[in-house]
Amino acid sequence: MAAADQPVRGRVVVITGAGQGIGAAISRRFADQGARLALVDVNAEQLHQLAGSLEGSGCEILPIIADIADKEQVQQLVAQVTEKFGGIDVLVNNAGVIRDNLISNISEQDWDQVLNINLKGAFLCCQAVFPTLKSQRSGKIVNIVSRAWLGSIGQANYTASKGGLVSLTRSLALEFARFQINVNAVAPGAIESPMTQSMPTEARERLIRMQPTGKMGKVEDIAAAVAFLASDDAEFITGQVLHVDGGKSCGLLSL
Ligand SMILES: NC(=O)c1ccc[n+]([C@@H]2O[C@H](COP(=O)([O-])OP(=O)(O)OC[C@H]3O[C@@H](n4cnc5c(N)ncnc54)[C@H](O)[C@@H]3O)[C@@H](O)[C@H]2O)c1
Repeated sequence: MAAADQPVRGRVVVITGAGQGIGAAISRRFADQGARLALVDVNAEQLHQLAGSLEGSGCEILPIIADIADKEQVQQLVAQVTEKFGGIDVLVNNAGVIRDNLISNISEQDWDQVLNINLKGAFLCCQAVFPTLKSQRSGKIVNIVSRAWLGSIGQANYTASKGGLVSLTRSLALEFARFQINVNAVAPGAIESPMTQSMPTEARERLIRMQPTGKMGKVEDIAAAVAFLASDDAEFITGQVLHVDGGKSCGLLSL
Protein backbone atom coordinates (compact mmCIF):
# COMPACT_ATOMS: atom_id res chain seq x y z
CA MET A 1 0.00 0.00 0.00
CA ALA A 2 1.33 3.49 -0.86
CA ALA A 3 2.36 5.83 2.00
CA ALA A 4 -0.43 8.24 0.98
CA ASP A 5 -2.95 5.47 1.75
CA GLN A 6 -1.50 5.01 5.23
CA PRO A 7 -1.08 8.55 6.56
CA VAL A 8 -0.80 7.45 10.20
CA ARG A 9 1.39 4.34 9.75
CA GLY A 10 3.34 3.70 12.97
CA ARG A 11 1.69 6.58 14.83
CA VAL A 12 0.26 6.03 18.28
CA VAL A 13 -3.48 6.61 18.34
CA VAL A 14 -5.58 6.58 21.53
CA ILE A 15 -9.31 6.07 20.95
CA THR A 16 -11.82 6.30 23.81
CA GLY A 17 -15.14 4.48 23.63
CA ALA A 18 -13.48 2.17 21.11
CA GLY A 19 -15.52 -0.93 21.95
CA GLN A 20 -18.43 -0.47 19.58
CA GLY A 21 -20.17 1.82 17.11
CA ILE A 22 -18.26 4.86 15.87
CA GLY A 23 -15.23 4.19 18.10
CA ALA A 24 -14.86 0.66 16.71
CA ALA A 25 -15.08 2.01 13.13
CA ILE A 26 -12.38 4.61 13.90
CA SER A 27 -10.25 1.83 15.39
CA ARG A 28 -10.67 -0.35 12.26
CA ARG A 29 -9.80 2.59 10.02
CA PHE A 30 -6.55 3.33 11.90
CA ALA A 31 -5.71 -0.39 12.12
CA ASP A 32 -6.00 -0.60 8.31
CA GLN A 33 -3.54 2.30 8.10
CA GLY A 34 -0.98 0.53 10.28
CA ALA A 35 -1.25 2.75 13.36
CA ARG A 36 -0.32 1.56 16.85
CA LEU A 37 -3.56 1.58 18.79
CA ALA A 38 -4.52 2.13 22.42
CA LEU A 39 -8.19 1.16 22.56
CA VAL A 40 -10.01 2.43 25.65
CA ASP A 41 -13.46 1.43 26.85
CA VAL A 42 -15.32 0.87 30.09
CA ASN A 43 -16.96 -2.24 28.61
CA ALA A 44 -14.37 -5.05 28.83
CA GLU A 45 -16.32 -7.58 26.76
CA GLN A 46 -16.83 -5.25 23.78
CA LEU A 47 -13.24 -4.08 23.96
CA HIS A 48 -11.75 -7.57 23.90
CA GLN A 49 -14.04 -8.60 21.05
CA LEU A 50 -12.85 -5.63 19.01
CA ALA A 51 -9.17 -6.19 19.88
CA GLY A 52 -9.56 -9.85 18.85
CA SER A 53 -11.15 -8.90 15.53
CA LEU A 54 -8.23 -6.54 14.77
CA GLU A 55 -5.52 -9.07 15.58
CA GLY A 56 -5.20 -10.14 11.93
CA SER A 57 -4.49 -6.54 10.86
CA GLY A 58 -0.88 -6.90 12.05
CA CYS A 59 -0.90 -3.61 13.95
CA GLU A 60 0.06 -3.32 17.62
CA ILE A 61 -2.93 -3.05 19.93
CA LEU A 62 -3.13 -2.13 23.60
CA PRO A 63 -6.66 -2.62 24.99
CA ILE A 64 -7.29 -0.62 28.17
CA ILE A 65 -10.38 -0.95 30.33
CA ALA A 66 -10.98 2.44 31.90
CA ASP A 67 -13.68 4.93 32.79
CA ILE A 68 -12.67 8.22 31.19
CA ALA A 69 -14.73 10.18 33.72
CA ASP A 70 -12.31 9.09 36.46
CA LYS A 71 -9.16 11.25 36.66
CA GLU A 72 -6.99 8.56 38.21
CA GLN A 73 -7.96 5.98 35.59
CA VAL A 74 -7.26 8.49 32.81
CA GLN A 75 -3.82 9.29 34.20
CA GLN A 76 -3.05 5.58 34.52
CA LEU A 77 -4.16 4.82 30.97
CA VAL A 78 -2.02 7.60 29.52
CA ALA A 79 0.97 6.31 31.53
CA GLN A 80 0.32 2.79 30.18
CA VAL A 81 0.24 4.06 26.58
CA THR A 82 3.42 6.11 26.86
CA GLU A 83 5.22 3.26 28.60
CA LYS A 84 4.28 0.76 25.87
CA PHE A 85 4.58 2.98 22.79
CA GLY A 86 6.97 5.74 23.93
CA GLY A 87 4.62 8.60 22.99
CA ILE A 88 1.19 9.61 21.74
CA ASP A 89 0.45 11.13 18.33
CA VAL A 90 -3.34 11.19 18.16
CA LEU A 91 -6.11 11.28 20.78
CA VAL A 92 -9.68 10.66 19.68
CA ASN A 93 -12.17 11.61 22.40
CA ASN A 94 -15.09 9.50 21.22
CA ALA A 95 -16.65 7.97 24.36
CA GLY A 96 -20.10 9.40 24.96
CA VAL A 97 -23.55 8.57 26.30
CA ILE A 98 -27.11 9.84 25.94
CA ARG A 99 -29.79 10.06 28.63
CA ASP A 100 -32.49 11.85 26.61
CA ASN A 101 -35.49 13.51 28.19
CA LEU A 102 -37.41 16.77 28.26
CA ILE A 103 -35.91 19.22 30.77
CA SER A 104 -38.53 18.59 33.50
CA ASN A 105 -37.70 14.90 33.44
CA ILE A 106 -33.91 15.05 33.39
CA SER A 107 -32.72 13.78 36.76
CA GLU A 108 -29.69 15.31 38.38
CA GLN A 109 -28.01 11.92 38.03
CA ASP A 110 -28.62 11.83 34.25
CA TRP A 111 -27.36 15.40 33.91
CA ASP A 112 -24.18 14.62 35.86
CA GLN A 113 -23.50 11.34 34.07
CA VAL A 114 -23.78 12.85 30.58
CA LEU A 115 -21.67 15.90 31.48
CA ASN A 116 -19.11 13.79 33.35
CA ILE A 117 -18.50 11.36 30.50
CA ASN A 118 -19.02 13.53 27.41
CA LEU A 119 -17.34 16.73 28.60
CA LYS A 120 -15.29 16.15 31.73
CA GLY A 121 -13.98 12.84 30.34
CA ALA A 122 -12.68 14.58 27.21
CA PHE A 123 -11.17 17.36 29.34
CA LEU A 124 -9.37 14.82 31.55
CA CYS A 125 -7.98 12.99 28.51
CA CYS A 126 -6.80 16.23 26.83
CA GLN A 127 -5.16 17.35 30.07
CA ALA A 128 -3.47 13.99 30.61
CA VAL A 129 -1.95 13.71 27.10
CA PHE A 130 -0.90 17.37 26.90
CA PRO A 131 2.57 17.05 28.57
CA THR A 132 3.48 14.26 26.11
CA LEU A 133 2.25 16.13 23.02
CA LYS A 134 3.88 19.36 24.23
CA SER A 135 7.25 17.69 24.71
CA GLN A 136 6.99 16.17 21.22
CA ARG A 137 5.93 19.53 19.71
CA SER A 138 3.31 17.64 17.70
CA GLY A 139 -0.02 15.92 18.09
CA LYS A 140 -3.61 15.78 16.93
CA ILE A 141 -6.70 15.75 19.12
CA VAL A 142 -10.07 14.98 17.54
CA ASN A 143 -13.15 15.38 19.70
CA ILE A 144 -16.36 13.65 18.66
CA VAL A 145 -19.17 16.10 19.34
CA SER A 146 -22.59 15.95 17.64
CA ARG A 147 -24.70 17.95 15.23
CA ALA A 148 -26.99 18.24 18.26
CA TRP A 149 -24.60 20.79 19.82
CA LEU A 150 -26.54 23.34 17.75
CA GLY A 151 -29.67 22.52 19.77
CA SER A 152 -32.07 19.61 20.06
CA ILE A 153 -35.38 19.15 21.89
CA GLY A 154 -35.27 16.47 24.59
CA GLN A 155 -31.47 16.42 24.76
CA ALA A 156 -30.58 19.41 26.97
CA ASN A 157 -27.96 17.46 28.94
CA TYR A 158 -26.43 15.92 25.80
CA THR A 159 -26.40 19.17 23.78
CA ALA A 160 -24.89 21.08 26.72
CA SER A 161 -22.13 18.47 26.94
CA LYS A 162 -21.39 18.59 23.22
CA GLY A 163 -21.63 22.40 23.04
CA GLY A 164 -19.19 22.50 25.94
CA LEU A 165 -16.91 20.15 24.05
CA VAL A 166 -16.98 22.43 21.00
CA SER A 167 -15.91 25.33 23.24
CA LEU A 168 -13.21 23.18 24.82
CA THR A 169 -11.99 22.28 21.31
CA ARG A 170 -11.73 25.92 20.27
CA SER A 171 -10.02 27.06 23.49
CA LEU A 172 -7.48 24.23 23.45
CA ALA A 173 -6.81 24.85 19.74
CA LEU A 174 -5.68 28.35 20.72
CA GLU A 175 -3.81 27.21 23.82
CA PHE A 176 -1.99 24.34 22.07
CA ALA A 177 -1.29 25.90 18.65
CA ARG A 178 2.16 27.20 19.64
CA PHE A 179 3.17 23.59 20.39
CA GLN A 180 2.05 22.41 16.91
CA ILE A 181 -0.85 20.49 18.44
CA ASN A 182 -4.10 20.56 16.45
CA VAL A 183 -7.46 20.27 18.20
CA ASN A 184 -10.56 19.77 16.07
CA ALA A 185 -14.03 18.29 16.38
CA VAL A 186 -16.16 16.04 14.20
CA ALA A 187 -19.91 16.54 14.57
CA PRO A 188 -21.80 13.45 13.43
CA GLY A 189 -25.45 13.67 12.47
CA ALA A 190 -27.69 10.62 12.85
CA ILE A 191 -25.44 7.57 12.44
CA GLU A 192 -26.44 3.89 12.51
CA SER A 193 -24.78 2.60 15.70
CA PRO A 194 -25.78 0.79 18.90
CA MET A 195 -26.48 4.25 20.38
CA THR A 196 -29.17 5.12 17.81
CA GLN A 197 -30.37 1.51 17.63
CA SER A 198 -31.18 1.71 21.34
CA MET A 199 -33.47 4.72 20.82
CA PRO A 200 -37.26 4.27 20.94
CA THR A 201 -38.62 3.49 17.42
CA GLU A 202 -40.55 6.77 17.33
CA ALA A 203 -37.40 8.81 18.06
CA ARG A 204 -35.43 6.90 15.41
CA GLU A 205 -38.16 7.46 12.81
CA ARG A 206 -38.22 11.17 13.63
CA LEU A 207 -34.45 11.34 13.18
CA ILE A 208 -34.73 9.83 9.69
CA ARG A 209 -37.67 12.11 8.76
CA MET A 210 -35.57 15.16 9.68
CA GLN A 211 -32.59 13.92 7.69
CA PRO A 212 -32.08 15.71 4.29
CA THR A 213 -30.58 12.51 2.85
CA GLY A 214 -33.57 10.47 4.07
CA LYS A 215 -31.27 7.96 5.73
CA MET A 216 -28.75 7.77 8.56
CA GLY A 217 -25.02 7.90 7.97
CA LYS A 218 -22.56 5.06 8.53
CA VAL A 219 -19.95 4.75 11.27
CA GLU A 220 -17.34 4.63 8.48
CA ASP A 221 -18.36 8.16 7.39
CA ILE A 222 -17.22 9.46 10.78
CA ALA A 223 -14.04 7.36 10.78
CA ALA A 224 -13.04 8.89 7.41
CA ALA A 225 -13.40 12.44 8.77
CA VAL A 226 -11.40 11.58 11.90
CA ALA A 227 -8.66 9.98 9.79
CA PHE A 228 -8.40 13.18 7.73
CA LEU A 229 -8.15 15.46 10.78
CA ALA A 230 -5.51 13.14 12.30
CA SER A 231 -3.40 13.19 9.14
CA ASP A 232 -0.68 15.60 7.97
CA ASP A 233 -3.15 16.91 5.37
CA ALA A 234 -4.91 18.71 8.24
CA GLU A 235 -1.71 20.36 9.53
CA PHE A 236 -3.06 23.93 9.23
CA ILE A 237 -6.59 23.13 10.43
CA THR A 238 -7.29 23.71 14.10
CA GLY A 239 -10.25 24.74 16.27
CA GLN A 240 -12.76 23.63 13.64
CA VAL A 241 -15.96 21.61 13.75
CA LEU A 242 -16.41 19.32 10.76
CA HIS A 243 -20.09 18.41 10.45
CA VAL A 244 -20.58 14.95 8.98
CA ASP A 245 -24.35 14.90 8.97
CA GLY A 246 -25.72 14.65 5.43
CA GLY A 247 -26.53 18.36 5.46
CA LYS A 248 -28.68 18.42 8.60
CA SER A 249 -26.75 21.30 10.18
CA CYS A 250 -27.60 23.51 7.16
CA GLY A 251 -31.15 24.19 8.36
CA LEU A 252 -34.64 22.85 8.76
CA LEU A 253 -36.30 20.72 6.14
CA SER A 254 -39.56 22.30 4.98
CA LEU A 255 -40.98 20.21 2.18
N1 LIG B 1 -24.56 7.46 16.76
C1 LIG B 1 -24.89 8.70 16.47
O1 LIG B 1 -25.87 8.96 15.73
C2 LIG B 1 -24.09 9.85 17.00
C3 LIG B 1 -24.43 11.14 16.55
C4 LIG B 1 -23.72 12.21 17.03
C5 LIG B 1 -22.66 12.03 17.90
N2 LIG B 1 -22.35 10.77 18.33
C6 LIG B 1 -21.23 10.64 19.27
O2 LIG B 1 -20.30 9.70 18.79
C7 LIG B 1 -19.67 9.03 19.88
C8 LIG B 1 -19.81 7.53 19.73
O3 LIG B 1 -21.20 7.23 19.60
P1 LIG B 1 -21.73 5.77 19.27
O4 LIG B 1 -22.99 5.96 18.52
O5 LIG B 1 -20.67 4.93 18.69
O6 LIG B 1 -22.10 5.30 20.76
P2 LIG B 1 -22.12 3.83 21.39
O7 LIG B 1 -23.01 3.91 22.57
O8 LIG B 1 -22.44 2.83 20.34
O9 LIG B 1 -20.60 3.62 21.86
C9 LIG B 1 -20.04 4.41 22.89
C10 LIG B 1 -18.88 3.66 23.50
O10 LIG B 1 -18.36 4.46 24.57
C11 LIG B 1 -18.11 3.63 25.69
N3 LIG B 1 -18.17 4.42 26.92
C12 LIG B 1 -19.27 4.97 27.50
N4 LIG B 1 -18.94 5.57 28.63
C13 LIG B 1 -17.60 5.41 28.80
C14 LIG B 1 -16.69 5.80 29.81
N5 LIG B 1 -17.08 6.48 30.89
N6 LIG B 1 -15.38 5.48 29.66
C15 LIG B 1 -14.97 4.77 28.58
N7 LIG B 1 -15.79 4.36 27.59
C16 LIG B 1 -17.10 4.68 27.70
C17 LIG B 1 -19.23 2.59 25.63
O11 LIG B 1 -18.90 1.44 26.40
C18 LIG B 1 -19.29 2.32 24.13
O12 LIG B 1 -18.39 1.31 23.73
C19 LIG B 1 -20.34 9.58 21.15
O13 LIG B 1 -19.55 10.60 21.69
C20 LIG B 1 -21.65 10.14 20.64
O14 LIG B 1 -22.14 11.16 21.45
C21 LIG B 1 -23.04 9.68 17.91
